Amino acid sequence: MEKEIYLAAGCFWGAEHFLRQIDGVLSTQVGFANGNIPNPSYEQVYTDTTGYAETVHVRYDPTRVSLLFLLRMYFKAIDPTSLNRQGNDHGTRYRTGIYYTSPHDLPFIRFALDEEATHHSKPLCVEVEPLSNFYPAEEYHQNYLINNPDGYCHLPVQLFDYARNNRDLDTAHKTEQYQLLLRQIDALCQGETDTLAIRANTCALLHETFHFWWTGYYRVENNELLLGPFQGPVACMHIPFGAGVCGTAWKEKRTLLVPDVEQFPGHIACSAASRSEIVVPVRADGTIVAVLDIDSQHLATFDHCDSYWLEQIATR
Ligand code: SME
Repeated sequence: MEKEIYLAAGCFWGAEHFLRQIDGVLSTQVGFANGNIPNPSYEQVYTDTTGYAETVHVRYDPTRVSLLFLLRMYFKAIDPTSLNRQGNDHGTRYRTGIYYTSPHDLPFIRFALDEEATHHSKPLCVEVEPLSNFYPAEEYHQNYLINNPDGYCHLPVQLFDYARNNRDLDTAHKTEQYQLLLRQIDALCQGETDTLAIRANTCALLHETFHFWWTGYYRVENNELLLGPFQGPVACMHIPFGAGVCGTAWKEKRTLLVPDVEQFPGHIACSAASRSEIVVPVRADGTIVAVLDIDSQHLATFDHCDSYWLEQIATR
């Protein structure tokens, strides 16, 4: 599985070298983002009149590193309170920015920014925008510090060791747990054809492994979602098409990640203790026949690592 994010962190030579050290980062490419002329050259961007920011395109595997971890690392490499200046480099081309290609990443970006803001007394000035355009920089800028080990770098070299030595252990551990769980489900349900029995044990395994607040299915019956089976406190029994997180996941035919249920319009609060949620559609012959719904008592419990593995589980 692969996801992407575009990060502007001052001079892209050092920024790329930093980001490529992080375990789970699949590739990096430096370029110019969110400017206003086609095909900009480095010289044009250098005039600081094109609107472009020096940016690193980061491709990563969300089952090995979360966006939240990547952004926490990114904040180690920038002064997020400094406008248009990082180290000795100044100009709008050196502004800091997080540019996303999936709007579903926005809640995670906001979460990371809010968390980072608590570490500063000054307001953050990191730009957060959808990516509007990106042009790769000329070849000699790519992997600049690998090809020029003594080249200019605005970041201290210790940061590169820091990036190499800090794995996203939470995501790695989560992936190991899901892999084990899938093997358990497959072993337990080998030869079993009863969907209800399989779902009941899948709930039990998920709930016991991760100690979620609520783990269960809603199945499509008579054009609504009907409760069961599940593990956890009592829950509402009927959910209309398009209602709440569950009905929306059914309607939009996609997994919904809700880092903060209070931010989800129309969220159905079966329990006041639930703070974040994930809902994964379950399909049979291409039709949605149920949703797998999991609630957590903590904010932002679920990310793309969970969606990847729970989508695998939902095929069982
Ligand atoms: N929160 C869900 C309702 C089901 S409970 O979480 C168990 C929703 O908004 O659809």
